[in-house]
Amino acid sequence: MRTDNRGLCVSGADRPAVDAFETALARLVRGTGDPLAPCAAAVDRCPDFAMAHVLAAYLQLCGTDARGAPRAAAMLPDLRRTAQSERERRHAAVVAAYAGGDLDAASDGLDDILVEHPRDLLALHQGHLLDLRRGDARNLRDRVARVRHAWSPALPGHHAVLAMHAFGLEECGDYGQAEDLGREALAMEPADAWAHHAVAHVMEMQGRRSEGIAWMREREDTWAGDGSAAVHNWWHLALFLLDGERGDEALALYDLRLTGPAPAVTDLVDASALLWRLALRGVDCGQRWQGLADRWAPFVCDGWYAFNDCHAMMAFVAAGRWKLAEQAMAALERSAGGGTSNAAMSREVGMPLARALWDFGRRDYGAAVTALRPLRSRAHRFGGSHAQRDLIDLTLLEAARRDGQTALLRALAHERLSVRAESPLARRYLDLAADLRGAA
Ligand SMILES: [Fe+2]
Repeated sequence: MRTDNRGLCVSGADRPAVDAFETALARLVRGTGDPLAPCAAAVDRCPDFAMAHVLAAYLQLCGTDARGAPRAAAMLPDLRRTAQSERERRHAAVVAAYAGGDLDAASDGLDDILVEHPRDLLALHQGHLLDLRRGDARNLRDRVARVRHAWSPALPGHHAVLAMHAFGLEECGDYGQAEDLGREALAMEPADAWAHHAVAHVMEMQGRRSEGIAWMREREDTWAGDGSAAVHNWWHLALFLLDGERGDEALALYDLRLTGPAPAVTDLVDASALLWRLALRGVDCGQRWQGLADRWAPFVCDGWYAFNDCHAMMAFVAAGRWKLAEQAMAALERSAGGGTSNAAMSREVGMPLARALWDFGRRDYGAAVTALRPLRSRAHRFGGSHAQRDLIDLTLLEAARRDGQTALLRALAHERLSVRAESPLARRYLDLAADLRGAA
């Protein structure tokens, strides 16, 4: 039987098809370049190539777009027909669970594969994305830690393993080791946009905004191409600019980089997350909210992923599109009563956060504060990174300011300064709290 580039047996493939599969997988894990075309080429060349069908299905699922689930489900007959080995059959079962919205079963299934086949880079990558989506910081780090014994620098894709481990370490607060591993990955593969991203996360969490801007700008040619990581890395650059109170530059970046012609759902998430942060700082976003709400509108009834629904809600609320906001809330309520992994995410985080965003948009800042304060300690359950969920903290700060809750504002500003000692934003909130108390 033929093997892939890491020595794993693959059914139904010839060498050129394996090469196309490897090209697609390399692009996927790097976050640079298009993986879809080489994956399709592998399937076309060898219709019985099981792992190419598996990859095609994961490409539909890992973008958190509800439209991908039925597409992946439609691939299951081919996947089951071509799966010859136990590993391939397990991947077929994972795809079935994933497409059905059972993210925990999909995650566990991938872990089972990795215990037996620690060099299954596709299983590791998909498991890593599911850990991010399920807010499982420990597994973001430890799923990778469990396989590293089987890897060495000579194996194709080793840089991606280090990059994933770096990100997991960062999400667990081990910033020193995370940065070292991220930089080691980049030394192996400078075009690994997710390794670059892991180091950017370290700088973001440590408030190293000047270094962060230089990090993004100086290495722009390695991550800013046509891959899946580009928009998100632009978003990270905008965060560094915002932390330095350079809102005009962040807004210009939004116009230039976050409003492409065919955005993925993840791009829309980044767009909402940036505009909302700008609006919290009082930057006039003009008609941008209307354009973004229009882009979110086709997804309003999906109820597929609460994290996305809340980012759609930001656009609807800020644009004053209350009908769409009502539909989004109804979709979240429907999801909360369903039987998928998203039900708990919607119930525990999505619904209360969407309601808080609604209250904020209606200028009921006291209600927003009341809803957001208890939410912060469980918000990880609907996934995303610390940097993404920081939006909840930022909204709470601004709601406290607008509601005149000076003692809370002071406490929250000190909390923020404890981890970002140089943050101009946190200093400004502390000064505002003092001014408000002085005026009272
Ligand atoms: Fe990120």
